[in-house]
Amino acid sequence: MDSTEKAECGRLANYLNAVLPALGQFNNSDAADVAGPQHSKWRELLDRPLPESGQGLDSVLSELQAIVIPNGLRLGAPSFAGWITNAPTTAGTLASVAANIAGAARYWVTAFNLLETVALRWLCELLGLGQHFQGLFVSGGSPANLVALGAARQYSLQRLGFDPARDGTPDMRRCRIYASSEVHHSVFRAAGILGIGRRNVSQIPVDSEMRMDLDELQQALERDAAANLIPVALVANAGTTNTGAVDPISEMLEIARQHNIWFHVDGAYGLFGRLDPRVTQLFSSVEHADSIVVDPHKWLAAPTGSGVVFVRDRAILERAFTMEAADYAEGAMAEGEIKSTFDSLGEDYLQLGPEMSAPSRGVAVWAILKEIGATGMCDRVVRHCAYARRVFELASADERLEALTRPTLSICCYRYRAPGATERALDELNAQIAQRLHIEGIVPSTTKVCGKYAIRPCFINPRTTIKEVEHMVTCTRAVGDQLLAQRRVSLRA
Ligand SMILES: Cc1ncc(COP(=O)(O)O)c(C=O)c1O
Repeated sequence: MDSTEKAECGRLANYLNAVLPALGQFNNSDAADVAGPQHSKWRELLDRPLPESGQGLDSVLSELQAIVIPNGLRLGAPSFAGWITNAPTTAGTLASVAANIAGAARYWVTAFNLLETVALRWLCELLGLGQHFQGLFVSGGSPANLVALGAARQYSLQRLGFDPARDGTPDMRRCRIYASSEVHHSVFRAAGILGIGRRNVSQIPVDSEMRMDLDELQQALERDAAANLIPVALVANAGTTNTGAVDPISEMLEIARQHNIWFHVDGAYGLFGRLDPRVTQLFSSVEHADSIVVDPHKWLAAPTGSGVVFVRDRAILERAFTMEAADYAEGAMAEGEIKSTFDSLGEDYLQLGPEMSAPSRGVAVWAILKEIGATGMCDRVVRHCAYARRVFELASADERLEALTRPTLSICCYRYRAPGATERALDELNAQIAQRLHIEGIVPSTTKVCGKYAIRPCFINPRTTIKEVEHMVTCTRAVGDQLLAQRRVSLRA
């Protein structure tokens, strides 16, 4: 190595081996989670001024081992059932380490480029989408929704004679995106980025099961057509973030076809639910959508930074996301036979979305599915949906608990209740219960269901067993009883 280079570029195995025990211990959830309670301690150690001269890799290693890793985020702890985030399984981690070292970009003629394509094909097959879909990896569900809605905008305005990506767009304020009031908030952000405007996402009310109300949808479409507004997309939730509800996909598809609107399905969390035979029929017709989003970094437990958008015609993505040509990007690519890795970009994903340089994400999905197969994933989904049903059963059977939703997929919202308490007092009490559970390392998330504060476990963590599920409910009851006995909350608040 050039003697003036300060960075260690070799001895990789030595350093990886050295950091492995700390990572292994973290991964096994062997130690207590002290990151929150002790944050001022480690913050002070890490938040230091920029060093004028380097302190060397051994110093980096020792701080990683002693301070950074032990104070990481314990998404993989078996009692973690909060939000829709996951810790990768071993296969995904292994593959992403391999990608960092041997496949640092998804382009050119490499095994990593091929595995982008293979993984997309496998996901399509696993989810029953048919091979007519063409996919693209992006960094998560939010950018995946953005890409899909970018395609929808291109489609809708091209029909009116405009090319929005090339020329800009006349009067985008007349555009509308239709989605249920339970839609993920990334759809609003996408509308903002695309120039449509967050306020032009028309929020259609839901029925008692949190699914889009189709009469309300029809009325909104007719009202807006009379006002000469431009329908850009109809978005169906295939598993809402809040409660796991699945919108009436087949009926919405029909309505989208009647009105000639781009039909998008946000299955970032829930599309894997299609693998559970008990609910698979809820997803029928999804394969006829114009665009579909699914996140491997959620239920599939791929490393964070893995979302997928599928469209039926990739050419629309090329029109929506094309960059203008640049000499530096054309390079020395050769026509004909490939004699060098750099003679071709391989399967060319860079024209299909907003990212140019991007990591290889397919390799982790390939590794995970190769390890457990379609059946392994199916078993996981069935098990997790059963956990949510178990929470429902336990909460319904306990006079001090109340199930607030009947689970469709792997989420069940419930709360503690106390006789004579006002709704406001119950909200406060349940917020306190959730906080106490978190302190004890039991981590559901929370939400509101019809205005009621709810404890909301979402089971996508491969390490969770029925023991943790039942323990969470038992502890909710016990903590609620304790808080009431200690009169920590006023029931009349
Ligand atoms: C239905 C749905 N769509 C989109 C997203 C956004 O995904 P990400 O956090 O990967 O950006 C989420 C996140 O939970 C989600 O549940």
